[in-house]
Amino acid sequence: CEKPDARPLRQRLLVVANRLPVSAVRKGEDSWSLEMSAGGLVSALLGVKEFEARWIGWAGVNVPDEVGQKALTKALGEKRCIPVFLDEEIVHRYYNGYCNNILWPLFHYLGLPQEDRLATTRSFQSQFEAYKKANQMFADVVHQHYEEGDVVWCHDYHLMFLPKCLKERNNNMKVGWFLHTPFPSSEIHRTLPSRSDLLRSVLAADLVGFHTYDYARHFVSACTRILGLEGTPEGVEDQGRLTRVAAFPIGIDSDRFIRALELPQVQEHIKELKERFAGRKVMLGVDRLDMIKGIPQKILAFEKFLEEYPSWCDKVVLLQIAVPTRTDVPEYQKLTSQVHEIVGRINGRFGTLTAVPIHHLDRSLDFYALCALYAVTDVALVTSLRDGMNLVSYEFVACQDLKKGVLILSEFAGAAQSLGAGAILVNPWNITEVADSIRQALTMTPEEREKRHQHNFVHVTTHTAQEWAETFVSELNDTVIEAQLRTRQ
Ligand code: G6P
Repeated sequence: CEKPDARPLRQRLLVVANRLPVSAVRKGEDSWSLEMSAGGLVSALLGVKEFEARWIGWAGVNVPDEVGQKALTKALGEKRCIPVFLDEEIVHRYYNGYCNNILWPLFHYLGLPQEDRLATTRSFQSQFEAYKKANQMFADVVHQHYEEGDVVWCHDYHLMFLPKCLKERNNNMKVGWFLHTPFPSSEIHRTLPSRSDLLRSVLAADLVGFHTYDYARHFVSACTRILGLEGTPEGVEDQGRLTRVAAFPIGIDSDRFIRALELPQVQEHIKELKERFAGRKVMLGVDRLDMIKGIPQKILAFEKFLEEYPSWCDKVVLLQIAVPTRTDVPEYQKLTSQVHEIVGRINGRFGTLTAVPIHHLDRSLDFYALCALYAVTDVALVTSLRDGMNLVSYEFVACQDLKKGVLILSEFAGAAQSLGAGAILVNPWNITEVADSIRQALTMTPEEREKRHQHNFVHVTTHTAQEWAETFVSELNDTVIEAQLRTRQ
């Protein structure tokens, strides 16, 4: 008789990202408490029924001892997560160094670090070695857990070396790689000392995805100009092998936000916020405290608005939620002090004994408080200097079906390509333009707001995270089948 098929009916998907969607806190020698974070990627994959996702990534904590590693591996296993253990030294050179001090600013057009050139060059090499080593460690874990037929989906700039490491271990593995940041113009990418190694490694994947068509085009031109390969409408060709390159704009799980607005605890928050800010228009910024988010520029534009239109001073408030991130990287520490200094100065200048124009929080809010805040906002300010996509703009739109508030959106965020028609697009470097757009938003007619909101709401509720994940994975499956057919011909 036939052996029952032990494989799950759904295709297994190994999602490999630097960070697991879980934060782990050690409670004892062999006990851990875990909290799932509901970031975009997690909700995207939870909503997809066709495949069964497992996560491979760094748990975000240093676990030097075997007892702790075993216990954490077991606890994470129950959440379908598999840890990669990185020691402090590797984290320092790979994550703080190469990923967040070199690749992240470069990909957002902020250039390479400019301090002492010699020291930078020396540490650059050592950071790149750590980057490769960390990527090899990820590859080892993927290899241990891989079963034939699985799809391996690698994410982001932390893991550009991973596709090559995986294919070297098993050339039949189906490998996709997706970048969540911009891919910069080839003229920027070519300044990176390891420019060719990274491109060649990414090209080992079967499918390479970006949020926008522009990023995909920049990647293909980097491959043609720097590696001398051939770019085609399908991707990049190297000695008869095609790496497919395409745009897959991500979305959010919009239903989750829309449903949350009905919950009693969210309604309660909404009521409190309305009372607290009665008589004032609410403007909102929600960002990780990162230099690419343009927080100082945004606050200076708000100051300019108060200067130019003083009658608004006691009728408007800016709530800026700045979530601390990568706090071990010196550039981020400097940014925190800079933002505090500007906020203090403006509140001193325009505040009264009973009210200040800017409420600045250095922390994250829980999901329900965030939904309530989005719902009471009149104008959202998303003014990143560069941003791969920016899902805050999507979340705001999802929560605004009653109020129909206005979105001011940077033209340098990937989201400008999808929400541009409904938002007011601005150049975040032009403080006068942003100040004028604040006034335009605050005085916009209800009909105009309704029209703009409707455009964006339809987009956000139809181009969801689930649809994004399904499209990428099915394209990856098709790409591999086509490549097999081509080699058989
Ligand atoms: C960006 C990156 C993600 C990263 C997130 C948070 O969105 O594209 O890969 O996980 O920032 O940054 P962190 O360094 O805290 O993981």
